[in-house]
Amino acid sequence: MSIDWNVHTYASLPSTQDYVKELAEEGLPEGTVIQCLEQKKGRGRHGREWVSPIGNLYMSILLRPGCDVADAGQLSFVAAVALSAAMDEVMVPGHSKTLKWPNDILIDGKKASGILIEREGDGYALGIGANIMSAPEEAICLKEVSGDNRLAIHPFRDHVLAHFAVFYKQWQEDGFAQIREKWLAQAHGLNAPIKVDLGNIQHEGIFRELDENGALVVEISESGKTIAINSGEVYFPDL
Ligand code: BTN
Repeated sequence: MSIDWNVHTYASLPSTQDYVKELAEEGLPEGTVIQCLEQKKGRGRHGREWVSPIGNLYMSILLRPGCDVADAGQLSFVAAVALSAAMDEVMVPGHSKTLKWPNDILIDGKKASGILIEREGDGYALGIGANIMSAPEEAICLKEVSGDNRLAIHPFRDHVLAHFAVFYKQWQEDGFAQIREKWLAQAHGLNAPIKVDLGNIQHEGIFRELDENGALVVEISESGKTIAINSGEVYFPDL
């Protein structure tokens, strides 16, 4: 089944994510998209602030995939491969783009976008922030890597939505395997040393795999055993 987009664009909102969650509660259909030009209270993962000045893409997509709750985290990988494909359309050669677990996109090793997936009733809010015209310090924006390509928020948004529709359909019809393969082919730090911070415990090891559910598989240096990590912060000391 293909998704029908219904995009609502606002000048300013506290957070597109909070707004889409309200709409999810009210029963709006899948494919409702809330975009705004700036956010006053943009949120990132782990309750962090997502600084949201005019010039970048901020949108949240309402999804009702009807999948097991355990599989919903895979949607952030669907979004990552869609964003990555949209970035391919505007980037010039000479820059590297990699996907960092669980859902960052790095360009030349710096963060270019973030993804946030949150459950609301039987729906999900999939939030996407992409740096287009500006980026915080230590991050990067697409303008820096797009050469003379014309770059504007709304066409980029439409590219993201078009790619997402294709990958989402593939995920719904065929499962996670092909999305996982696409993600792994662009993975940041595959087979490189990794440090994992689980809050109460830290691990050092080698990033070996993304498992069939989207968990990060790490071979622990001390024991040689592999563990699957579902949530946490990861760092690549050598990259
Ligand atoms: C991250 O921490 O990497 C995820 C950032 C997600 C930011 C987006 S911007 C649109 C949507 N609205 C929000 O408040 N957050 C998400």
